[in-house]
Amino acid sequence: MTGELEERIMPRFMYGTAWKEDETTRLTRLALECGFRAIDTANQRKHYYEAGVGEAVGGAIDDGLVERDELFLQTKFTYVAGQDHRLPYDADAPFSHQVEQSFNKSLEHLGVAFIDSYILHGPSRRMGLGKADREVWRAMEKLLEEGNVGAIGVSNVTADQLRQFVDIAEAPVAFVQNRCFARAGWDREVRQICDANDITYQGFSLLTANVRELQSEAISEVADRHERTIAQVVFRFAVQVGILPLTGTTSEQHMREDLACSEFDLEDEELELIESIAGIPDTF
Ligand SMILES: NC(=O)c1ccc[n+]([C@@H]2O[C@H](COP(=O)([O-])OP(=O)(O)OC[C@H]3O[C@@H](n4cnc5c(N)ncnc54)[C@H](OP(=O)(O)O)[C@@H]3O)[C@@H](O)[C@H]2O)c1
Repeated sequence: MTGELEERIMPRFMYGTAWKEDETTRLTRLALECGFRAIDTANQRKHYYEAGVGEAVGGAIDDGLVERDELFLQTKFTYVAGQDHRLPYDADAPFSHQVEQSFNKSLEHLGVAFIDSYILHGPSRRMGLGKADREVWRAMEKLLEEGNVGAIGVSNVTADQLRQFVDIAEAPVAFVQNRCFARAGWDREVRQICDANDITYQGFSLLTANVRELQSEAISEVADRHERTIAQVVFRFAVQVGILPLTGTTSEQHMREDLACSEFDLEDEELELIESIAGIPDTF
């Protein structure tokens, strides 16, 4: 994490706005009212309603609930393959122009002049990086240079792809946003690369990708010991091992519970147990 970004704002928890459609504005507003200050979206109408996020942000600023400087807004550039017909750019344009067009639309949707973090939603291929990824990354570096974004990063990357991004990057890769599987040691290999390169790892699907592991007796015992929910234990675990967690909950109670994971600490042995939960044989 660059010093400049750390000084400005370093989110502890991020509210994700995927799959909310007509409820996007209401739920984003609710998340802000509950205390979330970091919001994740994407200029990908198929899964996100970015303009709905912008409506909530604009309303919250107008009503004096938050100031723009207190907010951490993150959005993404998504290749055509991840989009439906509602494209935010001309698909025939070179990738660098697609990034520019998508980014400008994001500013318009969100009603802001600056994006705190801009993410490549996923590489153009399953393995390794393509020419498109290098071109897109350069275009994102240009946005950073021009001062329109605070940080840039990548999502849905393998360890190998992340190493390649780190190699080609002229400006630092500030964030990785990945689905975090307990069975892969909570994405251990990618997180190790992040640690070694001062990259903040954002984890999503912490609950939904790990349903089986989270039914374990061992996790229930930790939750009971702290008188917390299993979700709170998972989010607390994430924070303590250096993961910036995302939640996209639609429930006000869960929003408040998720944020309240800052109110307790797990012991080192509990962190170790959760780190290796997928390998504990007698718990399922
Ligand atoms: N980069 C990418 O490709 C990518 C992909 C997926 C997601 N994301 C980002 O990550 C965000 C979060 O997505 P997610 O996949 O982690 O799933 P999610 O949208 O956070 O869904 C969590 C599920 O767990 C349930 N839940 C139960 N107890 C909960 C609790 N205490 N706190 C939170 N949820 C609880 C929720 O139900 P209730 O609604 O009833 O609480 C919901 O069904 C997305 O909105 C998006 O911003 C990014």
